[in-house]
Amino acid sequence: MLFSATDSHAEIWQTLLHELQRGALDPKHPFRYLTLATVGNQFPQVRTLVLRQFSADLEFLVYTDARSSKVKELLDVPRVSLLFYHPKKQVQVRVHAHATIHVEDELARAHWKRVSDKRRSEYQSKLGPGTRIGSPSSGWESSSEHSNFSVVKFAPLSIEVLQLDREGHLRIQFDLTSGCQSTWLVP
Ligand SMILES: Cc1cc2nc3c(=O)[nH]c(=O)nc-3n(C[C@H](O)[C@H](O)[C@H](O)COP(=O)(O)O)c2cc1C
Repeated sequence: MLFSATDSHAEIWQTLLHELQRGALDPKHPFRYLTLATVGNQFPQVRTLVLRQFSADLEFLVYTDARSSKVKELLDVPRVSLLFYHPKKQVQVRVHAHATIHVEDELARAHWKRVSDKRRSEYQSKLGPGTRIGSPSSGWESSSEHSNFSVVKFAPLSIEVLQLDREGHLRIQFDLTSGCQSTWLVP
């Protein structure tokens, strides 16, 4: 359990922040991975991403290729939903957020320095993600460019947490647009 019915809203908030921070730091933590939902052209689009940082000002940071579909979708509609799930603690975290994309700026350059040589090729493919190819190896060719590396920042607008509990499920919402007002919700 992440929290119980007797915890105060402030305690739950602090526990949640702590757990999200651990997610960004510990590769084994379930919050290391998030599902990003964007508004697509025909369908809602979802995919798994690695949480690279959860900053002190509560922003979620991920890395991606600037040529990817998700970046195009974010440029059209910067509103997203993020989803985290902790199977052991039986907790689901849903976030509504506003995205900003950083390519070839100070932030992107600072994060590029943290990407290991081994992982850099993931952002250096000659062909952009999603390009149709005849065989898998056609997609492995890379260049030494890092101009496609992008950092996407998600600034949360609201965070909703569902704690499954045999005694009764608990659902709480934090509204960050109104000074972090919180309320219980019917699960
Ligand atoms: C466990 C896991 C972690 C992933 N992490 C990332 C990531 O951090 N950044 C990324 O761009 N894609 C990541 N991917 C790939 C994406 O899920 C997705 O397939 C890819 O980014 C293309 O998405 P798009 O076409 O919607 O832009 C990951 C996939 C898995 C399965």
